[in-house]
Amino acid sequence: MKAGCRVTVLISGNGSNLQTLIDQQARGELPIRLQAVISNRDDAHGLQRATDARIPSLALSHKQYGSRDEYDAALAQAIDSHGTDLLVLAGFMRILTPDFVLRYQGRMLNIHPSLLPAYRGLHTHRRVLEQGDSQHGCSVHFVTPDLDAGPIVLQARVPVGQQDTEETLAARVQAEEHRIYPLAVRWFAQGRLALRNGAVHLDGSPLPAPLVLGQGDPLPH
Ligand code: GRF
Repeated sequence: MKAGCRVTVLISGNGSNLQTLIDQQARGELPIRLQAVISNRDDAHGLQRATDARIPSLALSHKQYGSRDEYDAALAQAIDSHGTDLLVLAGFMRILTPDFVLRYQGRMLNIHPSLLPAYRGLHTHRRVLEQGDSQHGCSVHFVTPDLDAGPIVLQARVPVGQQDTEETLAARVQAEEHRIYPLAVRWFAQGRLALRNGAVHLDGSPLPAPLVLGQGDPLPH
């Protein structure tokens, strides 16, 4: 598979979603080139994952910048210095300025641990348990200036059981994240996924609704 699409990944922590991209790319299943991994925290485990995979990595701490605008300008400079066709947010725990988002609009994806539009923001697993919901999940979406509100590409549902804790639920959701995020990245890299006039297009047609998978469902091609 031709490795055409240059991808930069932004992280803040563990980097398990990053790892699935690294692994699939290494197995020749993703037509991407991982250009760089950038973290706003220098203790993010994902930086080690990048080093192990020989991907250039950078810790760019927000603490060294006086404002959000200054930080995002430095971040954009770092991203662009590597050449980036697709920016993948994988657990990047910062709100981005509208200028930054507009610069990468249509080529920036995020994964969020809820069935958006439900539970934007933080602590989604806890909030789902508090509400007594029977279903939970994750969503891949294009990033737009409104937090966790960009057009949704793909979602995966998981059941919520009586015995679930935040930890068990997080693990079940993450297993699905690791399936659907690489799929969306692959579609983008293959030129099949695009954001046009604010709408998600797959294979040239607007998606009438986000694609929703059940836990463990076979992935579409
Ligand atoms: C994931 O649960 C993702 O949905 C959220 O942050 C977490 C990142 O996990 N945005 P990891 O760093 O990829 O393991």
